[in-house]
Amino acid sequence: MKVLIATEKPFSKVAVDGIKEVTDAAGYELVLLEKYTEKSQLLEAVADADALIVRSDKVDADVIAAAKQLKIVVRAGAGYDNLDLDACTKAGVIAMNTPGQNANSVAELVFGMLVMAVRNFYNGTSGTELKGKKLGILAFGNVGRNVARIAKGFGMDIMAYDAFCPAEAIEAAGVTAAKNQDELFEQCDVVSLHIPATPETKKSINATLVGKMKKGGILVNTARKEVIDEESLLALMQERTDLKYVADIKPDMDADFAAKCEGRYFATPKKMGAQTAEANVNAGIAAANQIVAFLRDGVTKFKLN
Ligand code: 3PG
Repeated sequence: MKVLIATEKPFSKVAVDGIKEVTDAAGYELVLLEKYTEKSQLLEAVADADALIVRSDKVDADVIAAAKQLKIVVRAGAGYDNLDLDACTKAGVIAMNTPGQNANSVAELVFGMLVMAVRNFYNGTSGTELKGKKLGILAFGNVGRNVARIAKGFGMDIMAYDAFCPAEAIEAAGVTAAKNQDELFEQCDVVSLHIPATPETKKSINATLVGKMKKGGILVNTARKEVIDEESLLALMQERTDLKYVADIKPDMDADFAAKCEGRYFATPKKMGAQTAEANVNAGIAAANQIVAFLRDGVTKFKLN
């Protein structure tokens, strides 16, 4: 069996070594395609792969069609908007993710970016503290829960809303449940996004919603750039010069945000949320174990299609 790791943004070395230990123990061959720049490189590399491990790498219908031997693809991470699940299903390929494995890493970055934002991006002026501020968590999954845990240490007042998680489950975690998204934005000083990119959520974070935030509101996006209605957020931020926006990965309109919201905007050049040795090890090794469990024993836990 041949397992291909195809990562445009590579795992840490320690994660690749850990994955290799798992595939070696199963008697599988491990092949690496890292930092590739052309889709054609991926199409070539998947041709004889039985299993594929990716991160945010796009696995579309062309990739699936080129992967004639492919039995399983695992997205080492949480969000799987990069996988064409229909194409996988049609080709009889099982798709999985590794939920929770990189959640703490993403949650820690939320606070890294948030402290930077409340301290005015370290420009020398007086900022504010997080203690006593109200944090709104939009979607209470693995990342949202870790954000809540860390926010308690900062002494923040925490509220969350999740369309798919009952209010009781949110309250059981010691967090106030908002009635809806509107209430979350209206009440909180900071809103942190943890929704997946789906047809329903794409461009759902717009001026109407963010415009409900109090004076000095901060929007933190470590989810997906696609959930933001960039044009409307940019227009709002030009009107509301008190608002700040920090994002993990540059929005399509990065240059406009940078030029028009100077001193109130920051975006990472590459998606950095899960880019820690620990998250890479956790997600990468989980992916390798899931592949072995599936190919050897037919285990389909975390199957997405
Ligand atoms: C995820 O969905 O797991 C995160 O966004 C991490 O993505 P990455 O593996 O591309 O860093």
